[in-house]
Amino acid sequence: MPVILLTGGAGYIATHTAICLLEAGFEVLALDNFSNSQPQALERVGQICGRQVPLVKADIRDEAALERVFSEHQISAVVHFAGLKAVGESTEQPLAYYDNNVAGTVTLCRVMARHGVKQLVFSSSATVYGDARQMPIREDAPRSATNPYGQSKLMLEYILADLQASDPAWRIAVLRYFNPVGAHPSGLIGENPNGVPNNLMPFISQVAVGKRAQLAVFGDDYATADGTGVRDYIHVMDLASGHLKALQYLQQQPGLVAVNLGTGRGYSVLEMIKAFSDINQVAVPYQIVARRPGDIAECYADPSLALELFGWKAERGLEDMVRDAWRWQQQNPDGYCS
Ligand code: NAD
Ligand code: UFG
Repeated sequence: MPVILLTGGAGYIATHTAICLLEAGFEVLALDNFSNSQPQALERVGQICGRQVPLVKADIRDEAALERVFSEHQISAVVHFAGLKAVGESTEQPLAYYDNNVAGTVTLCRVMARHGVKQLVFSSSATVYGDARQMPIREDAPRSATNPYGQSKLMLEYILADLQASDPAWRIAVLRYFNPVGAHPSGLIGENPNGVPNNLMPFISQVAVGKRAQLAVFGDDYATADGTGVRDYIHVMDLASGHLKALQYLQQQPGLVAVNLGTGRGYSVLEMIKAFSDINQVAVPYQIVARRPGDIAECYADPSLALELFGWKAERGLEDMVRDAWRWQQQNPDGYCS
């Protein structure tokens, strides 16, 4: 039975995707170096799905380790999540980001090619649109980057396009995620950031559960309806099903596609706080502070290409996002160590 390799398989988006793939009848194999995750996350996936996900501890930059994995397993496609993703950290440690994200992906692709595995779903990001002029953002919008993390994703988009152009046997889906939030409805798996969360939703959850005193809202003087930043938050289970659809698409279609995974609807920071506290009946104290450097006013997708090509659209709304994020947080106040 052919196997789908999930690099970064113990991470936030990969664990949710593993559930979708297993439920659709795929065999999966997870590979992770646990630089930002724990093996317990995959044990929880096993609990949800009734069977354990095989797991290899390895680094995507370790070519010999990848060789062994591809020799020992009948891999038919790779969903490549592994990467570092903290924007601020990337400006302090650019080489770590280029090494891990860019060099790691090049190594992975080299091993894939050697083994004739040429189907790849790649985790890109709406960050490749930089400070987009036009909303909603279409896939043909100009691309740019404002930090090393974004640069690494942009470089990889170019590298993968060159690779596919050099050998049409490659089938590649570049998925540009907007803002993934929420958790599996079981509350068994979810987002588990190390230290102080960078992103809005995990920060709100940690304030609500009492781990942090209040949320800092980064600026209320943007050119948006209430002055706070607007983003396209997408439920992680919708994002997960987008990967399943992308894999099914690649089984039918050659070439490279770059596709937005978003809902098409933006919410402001204040709307997110209000939804979280109203729906979950919990207080989220906050204070308006200065803008965060590098932030943009608004960012939301035109998700119509995903519907056209994959037959995919986001099904879950804001209520599901905040309810599921809260269930995960409450059941696991200390993440997978709870
Ligand atoms: P995550 O940190 O939870 O998952 C990434 C996983 O990759 C982690 O388990 C980590 O240990 C692993 N990893 C990192 N470097 C590795 C290496 N060299 N070898 C093996 N494993 C390695 O992050 P996530 O939110 O699940 O993100 C998954 C992917 O999606 C990343 O590429 C990220 O850049 C991209 N992305 C995430 C977001 C977001 O907001 N979460 C938005 C856009 C794009
Ligand atoms: N925000 C706050 N307070 C916080 C955290 C965030 O007010 O403590 C605000 C931000 O200013 C922004 C919004 O909440 O207006 C969302 O911020 P996030 O940090 O959650 O998300 P970003 O849109 O800034 O960036 C995220 C990822 C990027 C990725 C991008 C698009 O961190 O890596 O989504 O996918 F590129």
